[in-house]
Amino acid sequence: MNLSLENLVNQKMQNAFAKLGLDSKFALVKVSDRPDLSDFQCNGALALAKSEKKNPREIATQIADILATDADFAKISVDGPGFLNISVANEYIAKNMQNIADDKMLGVEKIDNPKTVVLDYGGPNVAKAMHVGHLRAGVIGESVSRIERFLGNNVISDVHFGDWGTPMGMILAEIINHDGDLSKATTYNVDEITEFYKNANIRCKEDEDAKQTARVITAKLQDGDAEYRNAWQHIRNISVDAVKQNYEALDVNFDLWLGESDAHEASGDVVEMAKQMDLAEMDDGALIMRLEETNKPMPPTILIKRDGGFGYQITDIATIKMRVEDLKADEVYYFVDQRQSLHFEQVFQSVEKLKFAPNLVMKHYGFGTVNGKDGKPFKTRDGGVMTLENLIKMSKDKVRESIPEAGEVDGYGDVEIEKLVNQVAIGAIKFQDLKNNTASGYIFDLEDFAKFEGKTGPYIQYAIARINSILRKAKDKSMEPAQIVINNKEERDLALKIAQLNAAIMRAHNEKEPSVIADYAYTLAQVFSSFYNAAPIMSAETKEIAQSRLSLAKLVRDILVKLLYLLGIESPEVMLKKS
Ligand code: ARG
Repeated sequence: MNLSLENLVNQKMQNAFAKLGLDSKFALVKVSDRPDLSDFQCNGALALAKSEKKNPREIATQIADILATDADFAKISVDGPGFLNISVANEYIAKNMQNIADDKMLGVEKIDNPKTVVLDYGGPNVAKAMHVGHLRAGVIGESVSRIERFLGNNVISDVHFGDWGTPMGMILAEIINHDGDLSKATTYNVDEITEFYKNANIRCKEDEDAKQTARVITAKLQDGDAEYRNAWQHIRNISVDAVKQNYEALDVNFDLWLGESDAHEASGDVVEMAKQMDLAEMDDGALIMRLEETNKPMPPTILIKRDGGFGYQITDIATIKMRVEDLKADEVYYFVDQRQSLHFEQVFQSVEKLKFAPNLVMKHYGFGTVNGKDGKPFKTRDGGVMTLENLIKMSKDKVRESIPEAGEVDGYGDVEIEKLVNQVAIGAIKFQDLKNNTASGYIFDLEDFAKFEGKTGPYIQYAIARINSILRKAKDKSMEPAQIVINNKEERDLALKIAQLNAAIMRAHNEKEPSVIADYAYTLAQVFSSFYNAAPIMSAETKEIAQSRLSLAKLVRDILVKLLYLLGIESPEVMLKKS
């Protein structure tokens, strides 16, 4: 059901245009730039004036005359050279609010023909602790996944674990260097493996031979060498376990835990395909596929590396083939650091050249980095890499500064306080990330990100808890939400803000941009706050008004809970604040 006020008014406008024989594509209605003058505006008459060879004011006046017969409008005026300013009737807004409150989707329109959308927002690597660099992919991707699902798409998320490149050979070589062979490889834990990888990195930086050895081992591993595979399998398993814990802590979820290694066979198929289509050629010992230069140099795709073995590009190309064939993907979206944009251009162009997914929509949504105050990549206080674990711990410590301790509040022992601290700390981290436009990086605001005031996750959680408390107190006085009526300016302003929910979610969906939702949630919470200060509920003039305001409050609560959910953030029933 389409309950968006903007769309409903748009429909009425289209009907009026059609009645006059005017092209209804010009009937576009948008939320007014001048809320003091009108709720909505339409500039279509100006656009039509030329083709209709008429004065735009004359056209606008004709339209206004038709609209004026509709009791759902309170005021229609033609202003300036031919702008249509439209205000809707309070009864119409009230009816709309009631319909939204009664609707399971909160008035948000479902997608007409649902698509199978594969989302790739993981990309952690074997033997590397997850750090802030992995935060954005997971946090943005999880939110987009929830938005798409809410709108009715068939979403399949895949972690695309980095488990098949040269680092694998580097780790195996390092273990061999250390132990003489791989006999102990399956006894190591994830910290030990991480240490091996660190040392391998140092060694390979200085020593070209060591690097070559690692490449050869990688190629052999990929070819199926039993001993290498056995050791690798163990290393992969324990790395996946560690990564799963990290994602769980962040409430970031995946349907599929596939890795680059799972695309091995398909990579072979892609190489065959390229050969058969005469797109493959040898170049300096490697098998490559040349790409078209667009407006910048475009390096070729490497199908098989010089020392044998598949690299990063071919793995992604083959993974797309699997996503189309096995998962029946209509769309594939990547939430990966924008520094990888050239890689994705190469991958997408390769897929187009190989013609195996002609109808697939593919897009890379690159994000900027999380920086510290100095503008450099975010580090711990002592200059170390900011691991996700560190970050979460830091956020919890910060939240503890504002929340009472266990035992200070009735019913809040260790378990309850820990749960609350966790919900708020994760909410703070995620909101701080998601309130920023995906493409831009941001400075991690250590001072303010976990505050209960300002544009933060905890502020929205607090706004929700406050409404919960209003509803509880009303209930104690046997006051339940009932029929919505709109009488005064505060109610009207709040309702018109609520009416923008659909547009906000649609924009977030179209642009794959959760920050639109974060922005909207923040303004809605603010508008509610002004409403509540100016239009008291329990001391309203009549019981009907009080119950209507309660309904509006409940609706705002339900919307904010849904919006936080779409951002991947939980809404505690109660928030505690140190006095
Ligand atoms: N593992 C990669 C890295 O750490 C990121 C993978 C992103 N996803 C993808 N399909 N390429 O750089």
